[in-house]
Amino acid sequence: MLRNFDRHDGELYADRVRLTDIAAAVGTPCYVYSRGAIERNFQALSSAFEDYPHLICYSVKANSNIAVLNVLARLGSGFDIVSGGELERVLRAGGDPAKIVFSGVGKTKREIEQALEVGIRCIDVESTAELRRVNALAARAQIKAPVAIRVNPDIDAKTHPYIATGLRETKFGIPMEDAQAAYELAVDMSHIDVHGIAAHIGSQITDTTPYTEALDRLLRLVEDLEDVGIPIENVDIGGGLGVRYHDEQVPDPKRFVSALIAAMRGRGFDLPLIIEPGRSIVGDAGVLLTTVEYVKSTDTKNFAVVDAGMNDLIRPALYNAWQDIVPLVAERDTKRNRYDVVGPVCETADVLGKDRELDVVEGDLLAVCTAGAYGWVLSSNYNSRPRPPEVMVDGEQFYLIRHRETIEELCAAESILPD
Ligand SMILES: Cc1ncc(COP(=O)(O)O)c(C=O)c1O
Repeated sequence: MLRNFDRHDGELYADRVRLTDIAAAVGTPCYVYSRGAIERNFQALSSAFEDYPHLICYSVKANSNIAVLNVLARLGSGFDIVSGGELERVLRAGGDPAKIVFSGVGKTKREIEQALEVGIRCIDVESTAELRRVNALAARAQIKAPVAIRVNPDIDAKTHPYIATGLRETKFGIPMEDAQAAYELAVDMSHIDVHGIAAHIGSQITDTTPYTEALDRLLRLVEDLEDVGIPIENVDIGGGLGVRYHDEQVPDPKRFVSALIAAMRGRGFDLPLIIEPGRSIVGDAGVLLTTVEYVKSTDTKNFAVVDAGMNDLIRPALYNAWQDIVPLVAERDTKRNRYDVVGPVCETADVLGKDRELDVVEGDLLAVCTAGAYGWVLSSNYNSRPRPPEVMVDGEQFYLIRHRETIEELCAAESILPD
C-alpha cells in the first residue's frame, strides 16, 4: 500500500521531489521519509482528541533518526523511550524532557539516573524489583521519582506473536492480579511519586476492541485503587495502532481515538490519556529505494536480485511481513512476470517480497513501500554490509539525514590482538 508518495507522469514522487533524483544523488539502497506525511499523521491523531486532555508520546523505537524526532518535537510531541540511547537522541532532537515516558523491562541503574537527572515526565515501572531500584536511586539524588506502573492486562491484540506484548505469558508489565499490591508498595516508598497507570498490548493492531478491553481492565483497577486511597492522574494505553501494508482495514485516527474516549467516559472517567504511537506516525511516511542488480530465472522461479537485503529491512524475513514493492518509473508495456524480490545476503530468508507481479530488468529502481517504521532502526551490518543512508523530503527539497555507512566506519571499532 503506497500512501503519501504519488505518481506524476509515471514517476514516483515524495512531495515535490522525484524519487529517481534521490536515488541518483545518494545511491541505493536508501530510506526516504516525507516530512509532510509525518506531520499529517501526527496532526490527524492529535486533532482526533479535540479538547480531550491527552499527550502523544511518539515511540522512538519505530524510527529514531534525530531529524524525524526533531520534526515531531517541533509539533509539540512527547516521546516514549526504552533506553538511555533513545533518551539522548530525544534531547539532541530538542524534545522536552517533561514529555518523555520511559518504558522497558530492563532499565539499568545508569539509565534510571540519567532519566531522573534530566527530569523526564514518568518512568513506567515494569516490576517491583524495578520499583525498589528507582526508589533507591531517587533517594540518593534526593528527589521523588515520577512513576506509572505498567500493568499487563492479558489482552490478545490479535497480531503477530513477536509483537504481541499484552498477554500474561510475555515479559512485559506487572500482572493485573499483582498490580494493586505493587501500587500499595509504591505509595509507601519515600522517593516515589505515583502518577499513572500504563499498558501496551502490541503492535500493528487493526481493531479497536483490544484497546477498549484493555482500557476497561485498567479503569477497573483505577477504581479499586481509588477505593484504597490511591488516586491515578493519567492513563497511558501505549502504542500499537497498525498501518495499511497491503489490504488490512485499519481504524482511522478519529475512530481509534473516539473508541478510547468512549471507553473512558463509559466508566465515568475523564482522566488525561497518553498514547505512544510509533508505526502509525512514521510507517507510511517512508519507503526503501533499491536497484535491481540481476534478473535470474530457474525452471521454477524468477528472481529479481536487488541491492537491499534483510540487513537493511528485516520485517519480511523476521515476521513474514508483506510490504508492497513498486517501480519508481511506471512499467513498460511489456510482459509482467512473477518474481521473488530477494537481497544479496547469504540467507534463504533474505526475501523482500515473494511472488510479486513486476516488469523488471537489470538497473530498474524499485520502492519497498511503508518502510518508515521498524526499517532502518532494525537494520544491521550482517554480511559486513554498511547500513543505508536516510533522506528526508521537505516540500521540494531533500536532505541527507544520515549518510551511508562506510566500510571504514565498520572496521574502525574493531582491533586485532597484539603480536
Ligand atoms: C511500550 C511501547 N510503547 C509504544 C510502542 C510503539 O508501538 P507501535 O509502533 O506499534 O505504535 C511499543 C512498541 O513495541 C512499545 O513497546
